[in-house]
Amino acid sequence: MQIQLWREILEPYALAVEELKVKFNHMIGEYRRAGEYSPIEQVTGRVKTISSILEKTQKKGIAVDDIERQIEDIAGVRIICQFVEDIFRVAELIKNRRDMKIKSEKDYVSHQKDSGYRSYHMIVWYSVETVKGPKTIPVEIQIRTLAMDFWATVEHSLQYKYKEHMPERLRQRLQNSAETIIILDKEMSSVRDEIMDAQNSFQVKANIISDILNNIQNLYKVANKREVVKIQDEFFRIYNMEDMALLEKFNHELDVIAEGYQVQSLR
Ligand code: GTP
Ligand code: MG
Repeated sequence: MQIQLWREILEPYALAVEELKVKFNHMIGEYRRAGEYSPIEQVTGRVKTISSILEKTQKKGIAVDDIERQIEDIAGVRIICQFVEDIFRVAELIKNRRDMKIKSEKDYVSHQKDSGYRSYHMIVWYSVETVKGPKTIPVEIQIRTLAMDFWATVEHSLQYKYKEHMPERLRQRLQNSAETIIILDKEMSSVRDEIMDAQNSFQVKANIISDILNNIQNLYKVANKREVVKIQDEFFRIYNMEDMALLEKFNHELDVIAEGYQVQSLR
């Protein structure tokens, strides 16, 4: 196949990865702007390189014409969560969407691979519109915790270094460290509520402050300057008291004033 044809084949996969990254990142934003905990911590994505597609066809005996039917991870998206519980929430969120249809799932979280690898895998059907028309393609979504991702990243580079010849001793140590990762994830889950509380109050505070500053800025345009300066001084005074309840009350009062001028900030 010519290099130009390769590029054309990969086009819809590249679009799918970009679109899905935007969508999952927007979900993070939606949660945070609502002052809620986001089960997704971060999202990455990649299109398989031509050389790694060729390597896979060789290894698995796939005919070049069959690549699109046989290789399901040409488009890959990775979703990183803080806690194991989040993985299953994210999988549910994906199942409830209308723009992705589940083709298959593998739960390597509940059933880890022999290597020690853990992650929740979904292959979904996803449709894109390219200049050549619409196309529905498979996308591999890997959902894992930060700790699982750390392990998989290290193990992957060692696998790459040793290919099929990983020393038995090293393999054993990787399996052992996979057990440590399970313990770490469990430990994190047990303090999950406290971590979530701390992160949430941070987010709620950030949202309130951003509301207040927006309102003050809008008021500058319409209200008496001296009045607004007074409001701003009052804000700094309350801010320094580090009392969330007072900050919320002040925000509410400011909303009422801004509403009077019809300049209430919209988040
Ligand atoms: P592939 O041919 O590699 O796609 O395997 P598969 O078709 O049997 O699918 P599987 O769900 O097992 O693996 C898909 C992807 O998960 C791989 O391409 C890797 O990114 C990741 N993965 C699977 N097993 C391991 C592992 O033991 N270690 C690491 N680091 N990653 C793994
Ligand atoms: Mg793969």
